[in-house]
Amino acid sequence: MNQDQLKQAVAQAAVDLILPQLSRDSVVGVGTGSTANFFIDLLAKHKLEFDGAVASSQATADRLKRHGITVYDLNGVSDLEFYVDGADEADGHLNLIKGGGAALTREKIVAAVARKFICIADASKRVDVLGEFPLPVEVIPMARSHVARELVKLGGDPEYRDGVVTDNGNIILDVHNMHIVDPVGLEAKINNIVGVVANGLFAARPADVLLLGTAQGVERLERS
Ligand code: A5P
Repeated sequence: MNQDQLKQAVAQAAVDLILPQLSRDSVVGVGTGSTANFFIDLLAKHKLEFDGAVASSQATADRLKRHGITVYDLNGVSDLEFYVDGADEADGHLNLIKGGGAALTREKIVAAVARKFICIADASKRVDVLGEFPLPVEVIPMARSHVARELVKLGGDPEYRDGVVTDNGNIILDVHNMHIVDPVGLEAKINNIVGVVANGLFAARPADVLLLGTAQGVERLERS
């Protein structure tokens, strides 16, 4: 199986996992990226079996709407049973690095509201220690240099993601060379830098379930 087939397999596994628990009133939180896109396309086949979705990015909202799925503003939704999204890296405790698609802040907000966060990823995303993938940090534009200097003090090597503006009008710094042994601590430290909107570490709120696409099939890991 190639990488796209693995992504499709985990997307289907996520649909199979949530579908029996959805009702006609359910609203599903939907993430961003190529794996999430497979999920959207497969979920759309069942669009009459749930009410609608909350999107973690404009791109996802557009794709959901193209399928005829109602997209709700998160503020108007009182209960979100599931959030389904991809990841750039996942460790054995289901801590994640996300934000390769620059949607990390909205992804974090929707994940915070959802009762269950189901992460879907192909096996290449599974690591022992997070940090090989550069850690995305969303930053208020005027704070870019200040935040970059503070990230260097934390041992990182920040790089401005040229030409990228987030859905919130901000910029992204990708932090290289982080060997993240304390994901929860580092997530909090970066959040404490003035000018940071959010960072791509999902450790304070990790995934609850990781569906990992491997050559042998879909592996299911649960947070203990
Ligand atoms: C979007 O900002 C990211 O968090 C994505 O979830 C992550 O980059 C995974 O993307 P793919 O599914 O395209 O690999």
